[in-house]
Amino acid sequence: MCGIVGYVGHRSATDTVIDGLRRLEYRGYDSAGVAVVSDGAIALEKRAGKLANLEKVLDETPLALAHIGIGHTRWATHGPPNDVNAHPHTGGVRRVALVHNGIIENFMELRERVEADGHELLSDTDTEIVAHLVELQVQSGVDLTTAMQRVCQQLDGAFTLVAIDAEDPDTVVAARCNSPLVVGLGEGENFLGSDVAAFIEFTREALELGQDQIVVMTRDEVRVTDFHGRPVEARQFHVDWDLSAAEKDGHDWFMRKEIFEQPRAVADSLIGRRTANGQLQLDEMRLADEELRDVDKIIIIACGTSFYAGMVAKYAIEHWTRTPVEVELASEFRYRDPIIDATTLIVAISQSGETADTLQAIRHARSQRAKVLAICNTNGSSIPRESDAVIYTHAGPEIGVASTKGFLTQLVACYLLALYIAQVKGTRFGDEIDEIMEQLEAMPGHIETVLEGADAVYELARSHAGTRSVLFLGRHAGYPVALEGALKLKELAYLHAEGFAAGELKHGPIALIEEGLPVLCVVPPKGRDQLHGKMLSGIQEVRARGARTICLAEAGDTSIEPYADDLIRLPKVPVLLQPLVAILPLQLFACELATALGHDVDQPRNLAKSVTVE
Ligand code: AGP
Repeated sequence: MCGIVGYVGHRSATDTVIDGLRRLEYRGYDSAGVAVVSDGAIALEKRAGKLANLEKVLDETPLALAHIGIGHTRWATHGPPNDVNAHPHTGGVRRVALVHNGIIENFMELRERVEADGHELLSDTDTEIVAHLVELQVQSGVDLTTAMQRVCQQLDGAFTLVAIDAEDPDTVVAARCNSPLVVGLGEGENFLGSDVAAFIEFTREALELGQDQIVVMTRDEVRVTDFHGRPVEARQFHVDWDLSAAEKDGHDWFMRKEIFEQPRAVADSLIGRRTANGQLQLDEMRLADEELRDVDKIIIIACGTSFYAGMVAKYAIEHWTRTPVEVELASEFRYRDPIIDATTLIVAISQSGETADTLQAIRHARSQRAKVLAICNTNGSSIPRESDAVIYTHAGPEIGVASTKGFLTQLVACYLLALYIAQVKGTRFGDEIDEIMEQLEAMPGHIETVLEGADAVYELARSHAGTRSVLFLGRHAGYPVALEGALKLKELAYLHAEGFAAGELKHGPIALIEEGLPVLCVVPPKGRDQLHGKMLSGIQEVRARGARTICLAEAGDTSIEPYADDLIRLPKVPVLLQPLVAILPLQLFACELATALGHDVDQPRNLAKSVTVE
């Protein structure tokens, strides 16, 4: 996700901001920029690509010396990564420069308002609109602080904003709503950063910011208010992390940090999906409703974890849209001479957007006149670029090789796609879609609840550090969860781990069961009795043969208790949405067991984050 830096003090603002951005590079980004106030004007430089591109330009043409500035490393959400879309953005008269992290949910209506006022917008971003709105306020005669307060009251979504005013060389003003921001308190200087990594080389005294707050920062003073200007108390703390810990937000691994980012990532992936009148809308949907209505078959293609997301999607899409769905390994797809035509919709799921098997598969599909829709986390990558439509997951950069928040946000995107097709095909009424959207919007809270129980899962994982094999069982939407849980353990702990459809046990795999063998069982919600009862039978079968059953079951399901050697409780959620919570203990289990074995969880052996070779 984006990195933000703000500075005011006695040092060179450009150098200090660039230093801060360099320490935020780990967050992943695709463009960078810096703006300073000097001699009553905004001096600004921004470039697509890595920070080195920006530094090269600044070496050739330095910005004027200044002691107040802001900077940004952008992870593209709205609009591809290029120079124009890079931050900072300014208003039409370049009086205000502003950077932003997050997603403005009502940006389309704001864009229409700004353009109706005759302002020309140069970029595809939601951020530029905010820069115009803040600038219009200061031009009306109010100071930057009041301008920011007024604009923030107009914004919906998740946003952290930091701005400077060409006519006020002493003050940086910031706003925080959902996206991270922290203040660094120096001597005769003060800092802002997306996290403490941006400034801990200068100061370890920091100020924690809360929700819906404004920060007014000069070199000698930091004031915090709410969006209406009322002062609020901010907690000061000392940062005792080193830089590496700061980058991981205090966690030992990026993967663990990303597991705990999932409530936010899921919430971000749901932002901006409804029009003002409540209709579902998706990113870059360049397929007309008529084209979608004519689709009579959907083939989901992906690899690894993304393939398992596609398996979950099958249950949801078929149930809500009554459209047949096949899920195919991308590496197999084009070699089986698939039957596809103009009424086939290919859905390519890829976190990186660069997986060679998936990219080649969509190229083959397009050569057969199929329509291609990408579900991707990386704006501007190859797969979305070569697709007819895109749904971006807003997980932010995923640094750990083992996908976690990438998977969960893929599930969200798959549910949204299923609901969108149901809306277009009329296979679900609007109120039914509303109900499911409300259930999805409650998921970040349920995810949070499961993560609060992490310590018990860690203890369980460590107790199995000596095991040589683990089985995973699931039924219906829990079956892909079992497969994904097994993959996590394979790729992190280098253990034999295998997922099965629980109904398949008696057709062979039950021969694997031996005394003490750990079997993790994803128990469907009791709301689907025919599934729930059959799952309990499967658990009894393996337990009767000596397996150690570790069961994941919803709160209140007492029927599982006699058959579970260990029981991990899940929140009560609809059966189709249960993968969003059931996978979490399996992620935690794999991460902790691998840690206990001394493995590098972020860079597992033999693996790459993006497999760009077939
Ligand atoms: C999952 O933890 C692995 N990193 C791997 O299976 C990954 O999901 C697969 O390579 C697909 O990558 P993509 O989503 O970037 O296409």
